[in-house]
Amino acid sequence: MNINNICCIGAGYVGGPTMAVIAKMNPDINVTIVDINTDRIAAWNDKDLSKLPIYEPGLAEIVEETRGKNLFFSTEIDKSIDASEMIFISVNTPTKTYGKGKGMAADLKFVELCARNIAEVATTDKIVVEKSTLPVRTAQAIKSILVNTGSDVNFQILSNPEFLAEGTAVQDLLNPDRVLIGGESDDAIESLAKIYASWVPQEKILRTNVWSSELSKLTANAFLAQRISSINAISELCEHTEASVSEVARAIGMDSRIGPKFLNASIGFGGSCFQKDILNLVYIARSYNLNAVADYWEQVIILNDHQKRRFSDKLISTLYNTVSGKKIGMLGWAFKKDTNDTRESAAIYVADHLLSEQANIAVYDPKVSKSKMQSDLNYLNTRSKEENEALVKTYDEPYKALQDAHAVAIMTEWDEFKTYDWKQIFDSMKKPAFIFDGRNILDKNDMTKIGFEYSSIGH
Ligand code: UDX
Ligand code: ADP
Repeated sequence: MNINNICCIGAGYVGGPTMAVIAKMNPDINVTIVDINTDRIAAWNDKDLSKLPIYEPGLAEIVEETRGKNLFFSTEIDKSIDASEMIFISVNTPTKTYGKGKGMAADLKFVELCARNIAEVATTDKIVVEKSTLPVRTAQAIKSILVNTGSDVNFQILSNPEFLAEGTAVQDLLNPDRVLIGGESDDAIESLAKIYASWVPQEKILRTNVWSSELSKLTANAFLAQRISSINAISELCEHTEASVSEVARAIGMDSRIGPKFLNASIGFGGSCFQKDILNLVYIARSYNLNAVADYWEQVIILNDHQKRRFSDKLISTLYNTVSGKKIGMLGWAFKKDTNDTRESAAIYVADHLLSEQANIAVYDPKVSKSKMQSDLNYLNTRSKEENEALVKTYDEPYKALQDAHAVAIMTEWDEFKTYDWKQIFDSMKKPAFIFDGRNILDKNDMTKIGFEYSSIGH
């Protein structure tokens, strides 16, 4: 099938950057991203590129180059679906918060709504591409909805999981390690492969069956998250021995079978994918009664929760077992640097624990808004909106956030944190002044020389 028009349903962290890059690399294809969220679409269309709903280095430039030429953002979902030969489903698939599989399974209601929407309005043949991370065998469900509509439209389903990491999305899309396309029909697979072949070398475009493709996405994220939980487990052991987790990571990373990446001990992984996908894997394994497999992967999550809790516990015990009424300055709220995404960020859980101990929290993050921080805390339902509002203050400037604080907790590894005048910060803080470096970004010797009581992860 020749593809001239693409529709992407879902203008989020995956749909936005992916379609922007596809449009840039395929100037002859019209790409329209649609969403039910009118505010989000308006923000994508804002003349002021700093107002785009998603912050990703390099993204605004690509949107500027392609928007209005062959990249469009719209709320006219039905019209765009029927005008396109290929439709990407790129909507959110959060962990279920109700009913069967609550807290474990992926909530597929948004995906199902999309499938029903496509089935209802399509009058010509379509290739439907799953872009959202989905549990294995979801393509089956999508197919069943699409083919049982009674129309004689022919639908081909492909799985094309996204491997981009936030903060480096544009680079990951431009230079992917691989592109994975799972499907039944060679014709449909090649139609999508051709779009990627505009910039991705053929040998990096993998073709598999649908189920392998779906399972590969979950497995890749499970393996990556497992590395972080593995090094975080060792970090706790290091804190009780004379070992340094940085030295251990360096030493094991030089083994080419292990490799150096993804070995940074931290306050624990966050983001929209790792926890959700592992929970998904665990749920699927349990549904086949594979309890040993489920327990094995679940341990990655248990360790991650332990790591977040361990960080706040240590902060409290070091501050003489009480943070009640004390100002704690938090640097960073995003789940990693170079993104404004806060989903599952460790900062939320650490803040929530400290708030339950009656701390006053002062946060500075270069890209996260006050309203986002408040809604993240309110979502946990630990206390009232009013209490969160009263106990957590957001600053648009780091020095004010840290003034008169008893401790600084570094939650995100934003580069700018390393460049601050730490002597000035020390002078403005209560003494003794503590730093809890959850990302190991500051130099212990420098901080100790200034006068700080400095502690980091795994040292
Ligand atoms: C991840 C996968 O990397 C990506 O391929 C997939 O498509 C989506 O999920 P993302 O969640 O955007 O991407 O970011 P990633 O860079 O993987 O980081 C996830 C979390 O792990 C962050 O909280 C990060 O700070 C943490 N992390 C990462 C560590 O704590 N240590 C590390 O060494 C690496
Ligand atoms: P991701 O990180 O997977 O991209 P996001 O939450 O950032 O997730 O984006 C998903 C987008 O999908 C949201 O903007 C949401 O409004 C949109 N969406 C969800 N369901 C539908 C639907 N049925 N039709 C159109 N858009 C939808």
